[in-house]
Amino acid sequence: MEDYKIFAGMKDALALVEGDRLVYANQAFKKLFRLGEEIPPLRELFDHPPQEYGLFELVANRLDGTNFEAEVIKLPYRDDVSQLLVRDVSERRATEKMWLQAERLTAMGKLAGEIAHEINNPLGGIMLYGNLLKEDLPAESPLLEYVDKIIKLATRCRIIAKALLNFGRPEDGLEEWVDVNRVLQDMFSLIADHRLFRGIDVRWELTEGLPLVQGNRSQLEQVVLNLIINAGEAMEGRGVLTLRTYASEDEMVIFEVEDTGPGIPPELVSRIFEPFFTTKTGGKGTGLGLAICHGIVKRHGGKIEVESKPGEGALFRVKLPRLHYETHE
Ligand SMILES: Nc1ncnc2c1ncn2[C@@H]1O[C@H](COP(=O)(O)OP(=O)(O)O)[C@@H](O)[C@H]1O
Ligand SMILES: [Mg+2]
Repeated sequence: MEDYKIFAGMKDALALVEGDRLVYANQAFKKLFRLGEEIPPLRELFDHPPQEYGLFELVANRLDGTNFEAEVIKLPYRDDVSQLLVRDVSERRATEKMWLQAERLTAMGKLAGEIAHEINNPLGGIMLYGNLLKEDLPAESPLLEYVDKIIKLATRCRIIAKALLNFGRPEDGLEEWVDVNRVLQDMFSLIADHRLFRGIDVRWELTEGLPLVQGNRSQLEQVVLNLIINAGEAMEGRGVLTLRTYASEDEMVIFEVEDTGPGIPPELVSRIFEPFFTTKTGGKGTGLGLAICHGIVKRHGGKIEVESKPGEGALFRVKLPRLHYETHE
């Protein structure tokens, strides 16, 4: 075997290939693919090994059965031997996807706000004429039922439009000091008597002396309320609701709303923050709650995350930057 010392110490994963055969793999390459002494043929490492020279994005298979997204460069070496340079770009791709998703949500939110604005006026007209018609109809008219339906449905549209308008709001009013523990307690006491929560066991895990956050109190209340209501709706009257707060080392104040409901199927997790995404039928859901939460948390410089295993409930985590008092020297 030739001496490939010059490749051995390279940081990049490099292999020399001849057809389907790996002539040589450097240390970085072996590590990347978790190879032992035995060197497998190329077709075991890539579903579609590159046939020509150039730059490729491929799925690469490690010997232990896992795979990763790879960037592969194939170059001539000599005779029938070519060089393969391989990089694991899974992490980079995942970050890119996250940014794309965040941008998409922001764009959708903005559009939704504009549409809501346009819809609001004609909707007011529908309700006005509906009410006029209702007044003019004799009390025994069979048409009353229809008019009531029109008014009821138009009212529902108004509620949706109003919720949507929250998206388009300018970034005003983020200067209040907010005690997150208080927000959780206040919002829970607001809905504790609701039938959804009567059979629910509530566990409080609030951290005392939690740092304050700076922001808009009523917007943060809305986030908490949305999450608690979602948890209640998911549990359908029985289960455990855990409300938790703590501070993290990286200067964030965190609150969690955890339930023991059915959880969220993995294939839906990436969609639940989209406006109008709902699995609730019969007009029970607007699909706006989490989209609004996402917008508000982002405006506060925070982050909202979800952890869920189907059958084991869902945990929503909101991270907000803690308040820093200005000090004058
Ligand atoms: N705690 C939860 N447990 C299970 N699924 C949830 C939970 N919270 C939200 N979801 C899912 O996310 C979807 C979107 O939620 P949301 O934006 O609040 O809209 P809506 O509640 O009107 O459906 C819900 O329809 C549901 O499928
Ligand atoms: Mg909801």
